[in-house]
Amino acid sequence: MKILVTGGAGFIGSHTCVELLESGFEVVAIDNFENSSPVSIDRIKQIAEKDLRFYRGDVRDRTLLERIFTEHEIDAVIHFAGLKAVGESCRMPIAYYDNNIGGTLALVETMQKFGCKRIIFSSSATVYGEPKKLPVDESCPTGNVTNPYGATKYFQERILSDLQASDPSWTVVLLRYFNPVGAHPSGLLGEDPKGIPNNLTPYIAKVACGKLKEIHVFGNDYPTPDGTGVRDYIHVVDLARGHVAALRHCRKPGRYVYNLGTGTGYSVLQVIKAFERACGRKLNYVIDPRREGDVATIYADPGKANRELFWRAEHNLDDMCRTLWNYYRNNPNGT
Ligand code: WQD
Repeated sequence: MKILVTGGAGFIGSHTCVELLESGFEVVAIDNFENSSPVSIDRIKQIAEKDLRFYRGDVRDRTLLERIFTEHEIDAVIHFAGLKAVGESCRMPIAYYDNNIGGTLALVETMQKFGCKRIIFSSSATVYGEPKKLPVDESCPTGNVTNPYGATKYFQERILSDLQASDPSWTVVLLRYFNPVGAHPSGLLGEDPKGIPNNLTPYIAKVACGKLKEIHVFGNDYPTPDGTGVRDYIHVVDLARGHVAALRHCRKPGRYVYNLGTGTGYSVLQVIKAFERACGRKLNYVIDPRREGDVATIYADPGKANRELFWRAEHNLDDMCRTLWNYYRNNPNGT
């Protein structure tokens, strides 16, 4: 089978390309390198010891998409390409709607034109907003999102769901990721640590490298065991394998929705402690006020994915911190 991976050079996209190649799929990838680097494409080939076909460009570029679909018989698409920073999305919402919604529209229109009707979409637990119950399962309400990034994920889910309802011969798989962290165990792929990270684990890693002075813990007065926010961190390799499982098990036309998480929540302080174990030294942190839009606690019920995709997250928090630290040590200036 030949799979088109949009955003194939990005953090989750690159790990998914490796897992696909190692599982015997042929891969065609597209990326505009807006938030990634050509080095990741070489690293994917190096790890998998296989080749992939790469196109540099934007997923909104319909001419390029048509060229790709003309040159390859694509069986399914895994769609990662898009912008993903919550804070940035509040400052530049139109860029987020244009990239994320525009990209998805250009992609599905082209797929339709070429009769390719299988898509796996990179969604997010952010579509649940403030969770009404814990753990969060797929039947929980979505749409009560707190920022433009979350709105784009919710709208993209709607667009794909409406498309599937209008034409039941489509296979639409919505994968809702919890907090993807960690790096490839080879130390060759990870999240590119350019600039000041928004997310917790890259920030911790930069403090461990000495590039940032101290970790800022956003709030210690949440109703959680130690007062800091609790999240369901999932190793990026487990997440990547979830896509391979979805390709294997969501074969019949229909709309499928799965949470990809471990089912266990860890607090910010627990993550810092785990990272200290990984890097072998104490890390400085300060307590700051809560960050706007953050919820106290969210973690997944991954039972549906466990049962129907025969998939389960296998890495624990220590694995996540160890592989992330290994990546940062090997690539202090990113990939
Ligand atoms: C985790 C915890 C913070 C940074 C976001 C998106 C989600 C997904 C992943 C991606 C929270 C705390 C953080 C810091 C801190 N999107 N924190 N100091 O907010 O759960 O999820 O990223 O592409 O859709 O919403 O992840 O890593 O930012 O925060 O104390 O410097 O760490 O308050 O409790 P989040 P995060």
